[in-house]
Amino acid sequence: MSSPAESVVEVDELTVDFWERDHWVNVVNKVSFSIEPGETLGLVGESGCGKSTTAFSLFGYRRPGSRVRSGAIRFDGRDLLRLKERELRSIRGARICLVPQNPAGSLTPSMRVGTQLVETLKAHRASTWRKAEKRAVELFAQVGLPEPGEIAERYPYELSGGQQQRVVMAMALACSPSLLVLDEPTTALDVTTQARILKLLFRLQGEHGMSMLYVTHNLGVVAQICDRVAVMYAGELVEIAPTVELFENPRHPYTRGLIAAVPRISAPTGGDATLRGLLRREELPDGCRFAPRCAYAQTDCFTNPQSLAPVAKDHRVACWLWKSIPGARRVAAEEPAQATPVPR
Ligand SMILES: Nc1ncnc2c1ncn2[C@@H]1O[C@H](COP(=O)(O)OP(=O)(O)O)[C@@H](O)[C@H]1O
Ligand code: SF4
Ligand SMILES: [Mg+2]
Repeated sequence: MSSPAESVVEVDELTVDFWERDHWVNVVNKVSFSIEPGETLGLVGESGCGKSTTAFSLFGYRRPGSRVRSGAIRFDGRDLLRLKERELRSIRGARICLVPQNPAGSLTPSMRVGTQLVETLKAHRASTWRKAEKRAVELFAQVGLPEPGEIAERYPYELSGGQQQRVVMAMALACSPSLLVLDEPTTALDVTTQARILKLLFRLQGEHGMSMLYVTHNLGVVAQICDRVAVMYAGELVEIAPTVELFENPRHPYTRGLIAAVPRISAPTGGDATLRGLLRREELPDGCRFAPRCAYAQTDCFTNPQSLAPVAKDHRVACWLWKSIPGARRVAAEEPAQATPVPR
């Protein structure tokens, strides 16, 4: 992996808890990764494993009822977790932008979408209203909205889900951020719109050269858009590798199970893991959190915590038994599932 000095962002042992009734429950545990300039890192794992909590932390956002127990998020030589709200505001929306799952939630219902974009442009860049208006129409055109001048006059409810998501992307791109955080941005959209948005993202990244963190539970999407993939289970990273390497040579039993579960893929991995629902936090063992569901678990697994260790160049896995678990070659990289392949 490149040296941290070259990374756009470096997450170092991020640990987040949520308050539940009368005690803190850990939901993200010692998560570390970095994203390089122009790179798309996928963050994948089943619902509830801590993807959004991690993604929001990159945006300097803490959900109500949560605390960052420890860790650092280095961006531009500063630790985002130690910044004051005022300092964060100058980074949010300008250097780091978030595209959430539900586009409608991030648009103001009572304001024309063109005005919203102009206000975003004005908030972060010294510009006249007229120049900002012209730029807003250019941005709407860039994200593939038909008749952008006319779209700018509409209210969010007058747009389809796909159009709303394009508006949100235009707003995210307005200030040419170095890092775009996308939290399941296509989940609420139909498959065709999903494929179009992915294609658009791919093109925009080429044009704007930004880095992206792409959060999804959909490995088919990951195969299409990500350079590297980080796999999360019960709040911890269990494997991280370049996308092709991960699909061809998954090492963690959980990753193997995830890949085996992708539809349309005839996986020779045997589907080691049962991927139904997460265990309750209190049911997780002190050692490897995956142990209760792991076909390879040994007694020591339940007591020995695991952390990422190198297995190959740029490939790390959190399983002390990875050497004795057979590799699974050529599982999915050539056969992306669920969405129409995006031309690269
Ligand atoms: N406001 C909250 N209060 C308490 N627990 C929460 C809250 N938001 C999320 N959680 C818990 O944190 C864990 C991680 O949630 P999240 O980061 O949203 O996961 P994902 O995005 O992978 O679905 C889940 O177990 C969830 O129940
Ligand atoms: S450490 Fe043990 S329980 Fe955990 S994934 Fe590896 S073999 Fe399975
Ligand atoms: Mg989420």
